[in-house]
Amino acid sequence: MEFIPQTGAGKRICIVGASGKLGRHMVRHALDRGYEVVGVCREKSVRKLDDYADRITIHPGFTNDRDVVARAVEGCDAVLTVLVPWGVNDYSSGTAKAVIDFAEPDARLIFSCGWHITRDGLDRYSRGLRAAVHFARFMRITRLIDLDDQYRAADLIFRSDTRWTLVRGSDLEEGPSQGLPVWSRHVGDPVLESNLTRRTDFALFMVAAAEDDALVREAPAINGRLTPSALAHAGGAA
Ligand SMILES: NC(=O)c1ccc[n+]([C@@H]2O[C@H](COP(=O)([O-])OP(=O)(O)OC[C@H]3O[C@@H](n4cnc5c(N)ncnc54)[C@H](OP(=O)(O)O)[C@@H]3O)[C@@H](O)[C@H]2O)c1
Repeated sequence: MEFIPQTGAGKRICIVGASGKLGRHMVRHALDRGYEVVGVCREKSVRKLDDYADRITIHPGFTNDRDVVARAVEGCDAVLTVLVPWGVNDYSSGTAKAVIDFAEPDARLIFSCGWHITRDGLDRYSRGLRAAVHFARFMRITRLIDLDDQYRAADLIFRSDTRWTLVRGSDLEEGPSQGLPVWSRHVGDPVLESNLTRRTDFALFMVAAAEDDALVREAPAINGRLTPSALAHAGGAA
């Protein structure tokens, strides 16, 4: 049986967006590490957490519902938040703001997003990624998605004086864990070139970040540790 260090023993962690694909992986990793887990998810999605129903506390509600978030994050040592740009009602930025406003002052706050978010403008993007971002922004016309709101959420996080980390995910795939992803401060670093992370390992990185003070106020861009570019260049990764 795999040995998993009980880094979460005696600690409470809140997962905001717990019922999604990334969220459920984070719930499992957090439970495996001994955390007491509290989750926030939409009422209609509570059943997606049935496998964990007797092991976690669920606060049903939209993740930008300030009352729900305030109750869920109370007393938590860490809050892991899935930022998603659904709709045109500031869902991402409303979620980030609620977490920043109500989390305990010393809590570790870990947020998820994609490589498209840049902290300092020094990321170097491929033409394909730039085109995908343009297209995603254009899709606001459908009123189903507002990518710019994820940028607004990131700005709120970068400007906050909390103990935040914004984890920037590469393209994702399913499959068994390959271990903790490699990371770099900037997209364009050769170690990230393969641009592919297992979703379970994205979640693993989010949970591990809660215990890693070296990641406080960092926006790591991640990539799977067994991808060709990680194997070739991991020694130089940040
Ligand atoms: N997908 C990718 O290829 C990719 C790549 C890089 C980074 N990321 C990042 O990874 C994170 C997880 O993304 P994911 O694509 O893998 O999806 P995911 O984990 O399944 O998460 C989607 C989340 O959005 C919620 N949601 C879905 N429809 C909604 C709606 N209409 N209104 C409000 N909430 C809604 C889901 O809640 P319910 O359970 O209630 O439906 C769930 O919490 C995000 O931060 C994303 O930016 C994703």
